[in-house]
Amino acid sequence: MSTRDTLIRNARVFDGSGNSEKVADVAICGDRITAIGPRLALNAATSIEAEGLALAPGFIDVHTHDDLYVIRHPEMLPKISQGVTTVIVGNCGISAAPAKLNGRLPDPMNLLGEAGQFRYPAFSTYVDAIREAQPAVNVAALVGHTALRNDQMDRLDRAATQAEILAMRAQLQDALDHGALGLSTGLAYLSANSAPSEEVMELAQPLAAAGAIYATHMRTESDAILDAMNEAFATGSSARVPVVVSHLKCAGIANWGRSGEVLHALVAARGTQPIGCDCYPYAAGSSTLDLRQVDERVKIAITWSTPHPEVAGRTLAEIAAQWQITQLEAARRLQPAGAIYHSISEEDMRRILRHPATMIGSDGLPNDPRPHPRLWGTFPRVLGRYCREEKLFSLTQAIHKMTGMPARRFGLAGRGLIREGCYADLTLFDPEKVEDTATFDNPIQPSRGIAGVWVNGTLAYNSQGLTSQRGGRFVPRGKSNGFEPSGF
Ligand code: ZN
Ligand code: CU
Repeated sequence: MSTRDTLIRNARVFDGSGNSEKVADVAICGDRITAIGPRLALNAATSIEAEGLALAPGFIDVHTHDDLYVIRHPEMLPKISQGVTTVIVGNCGISAAPAKLNGRLPDPMNLLGEAGQFRYPAFSTYVDAIREAQPAVNVAALVGHTALRNDQMDRLDRAATQAEILAMRAQLQDALDHGALGLSTGLAYLSANSAPSEEVMELAQPLAAAGAIYATHMRTESDAILDAMNEAFATGSSARVPVVVSHLKCAGIANWGRSGEVLHALVAARGTQPIGCDCYPYAAGSSTLDLRQVDERVKIAITWSTPHPEVAGRTLAEIAAQWQITQLEAARRLQPAGAIYHSISEEDMRRILRHPATMIGSDGLPNDPRPHPRLWGTFPRVLGRYCREEKLFSLTQAIHKMTGMPARRFGLAGRGLIREGCYADLTLFDPEKVEDTATFDNPIQPSRGIAGVWVNGTLAYNSQGLTSQRGGRFVPRGKSNGFEPSGF
């Protein structure tokens, strides 16, 4: 061993595979885990006594919108402070690359950043920018369907022509050749809602040969959710690729209590094709302010508004009352704007969160001045509130949902497991104390109980906060998951 090496002693090691824990020492040499075992007889430059603490593979945030934030804020405090070592960007149909904008920043691409920050017309230029930024966390990327539409189409309120689909497909193929994980869609948004299933199916053709996947923010998450799920599954089976249903939920008061039938449909389809989903541990969603989701019975908090920045943090009901207009009219005047919708039932969310098909994804919005607390709190909240306190699942299962399961599904080779030879992406935490502190009223708060976070062997965060080192890399797609339903 050399001066760069670290030995973590006597930790409760959760290897990420879903197998039960073992007390062991773990040795890090360079960017790799080099030894695991009880009482390793090694001398390392740094030795850490971890008795009573849990050591897990670094958490993988499968659903993020950190595409541009990770370049502008490479220290990535909202994520590294949760024990996250890899973020998957490019979800919900929106990605920083390949994006040309053509003078237009359609909703919801504005969630990622301002027009001037989109500088990656080719996927490879984005990869270069990540390498140059040297972020604290690893970055793996999906390609957004809406970004491709915006690159190739004069307007987004129609279906793409055959020629446009071919042009988008060439961009997708180029991104796959440079390590993209797959394709994402955001069919619920107006910028992609006019795309018929056939457009996505034809665009998705190159995915299978590349061993890539399809992730979707479905056409709807409310009344017609079962139809939307069927559309997602049909797209996956036509392209012969695995499907990840993004932030699975039953949105809107009329749909509370439907998680049972939704999960039943998911399980039935999993019998014949590979399907998974992700979920964030909150009973509220957040995105741009959508007039179709304004419902006087639902509490809606405004997170930002371009014409009225002063209202950030207030509810739509308060704003409408002050302006003496309806909430719908107030929502119109606030556009473009962002919102938090308290439109999910806690019971449904818990049922989806604990389902064995479900991974953890924050869906955090790092550019919001008053973000949904999921940005800072998702992973500690799953470990503290939902695992330790509510006992929705064992700690072994909770960690598996954040590590081994997503690494296998997204093809992140050498990550998500504590094994000799794997990358030393590791999170050390106190399972008795780990907790989120970010709230809807006070959302920018690092969690408690995270003792050490290593990314490719570099200690990026500890109980004192950020170290001055960053070890993150661009992570290209690894080996194919194939189209086998079993084991996805
Ligand atoms: Zn989404
Ligand atoms: Cu999202």
